Amino acid sequence: MKKVGILLSGRGSNMMALVEQARGYAVALVASDKPDAPGLAWAAARGLPTFALSPKGIGKAAYEAVLDAALRDAGVETIALAGYMRLLSDDFVARWRGKIVNIHPSLLPLYKGLDTHARAIAAGDAHGGCSVHLVTEELDGGRVLGQARVPIAPGDDADTLAARVLAAEHALYPRILAEFVMTPLDRIRSLARALPDTEERVSHGQPTFFVAGKQFAQVRDDHHGDGLLVVCVRTSGADEQAMLIEAAPGTYSRPAYLGPSGWVSVNLAGAPDWPLVEDRVARSWELAAPARLLEAGGR
Ligand code: GRF
Repeated sequence: MKKVGILLSGRGSNMMALVEQARGYAVALVASDKPDAPGLAWAAARGLPTFALSPKGIGKAAYEAVLDAALRDAGVETIALAGYMRLLSDDFVARWRGKIVNIHPSLLPLYKGLDTHARAIAAGDAHGGCSVHLVTEELDGGRVLGQARVPIAPGDDADTLAARVLAAEHALYPRILAEFVMTPLDRIRSLARALPDTEERVSHGQPTFFVAGKQFAQVRDDHHGDGLLVVCVRTSGADEQAMLIEAAPGTYSRPAYLGPSGWVSVNLAGAPDWPLVEDRVARSWELAAPARLLEAGGR
């Protein structure tokens, strides 16, 4: 499980959401530049490791060196900014390249910086929202990993809109952070385990998922040196298998061994279409599950 460090400066409601909805990651440190930040006290009361240091009287480089050491000592692999009000130096960002994410209260690339809600209302926008993005040297400029849109109501002011967007932030951030840190196998595992009566075993050296003793999904990573990362799932038979492969040869292929039984491989390399992958795995579970489980409501 990936270890995440959360940096905050204030109330820490996003940090609380990240802690309470943690999936695929564990919060290894909550750190703040404000020793009296309410969020820090909440984290400490929950028994989470915390770190606090005011930057007053310490140069930026020295300050960040101490912060960096605290994060690394805690085993942090990914940093989640959650209302952290200090700009990280280019140097710090370079040291953690691709491993820092942030939540910003606007639909980026709109309204980088502060006062996002007032600016969205003044522009007459129909929607505000929030974005989780990678942190780069450019302020609020890194790749957007996920967004939630929130309608702007006629009588909204910056505070009422901020409150509604904040609720959306608390749903969005844990979900996107989980997706960001989880490997394709983690994601398949988490969705396979959420289906009734499943278990995971190693079969032919590959992580394989079973329902009531019958296999329904197998993740293959460079199986017999084929260079592919796929999940093999059941189809209704040879016709569906052939149709899928013909219609989308970049997504589907015929797996070794399981192919003759009508299974397909779904490509997981690059940026897979996750809703499609999830649907295929769930369908495969249905094809393998005994009648008693399907009658009980299935997935
Ligand atoms: C949130 O609105 C977040 O989008 C922004 O700072 C605020 C932090 O709030 N980056 P909280 O401390 O998480 O409650």
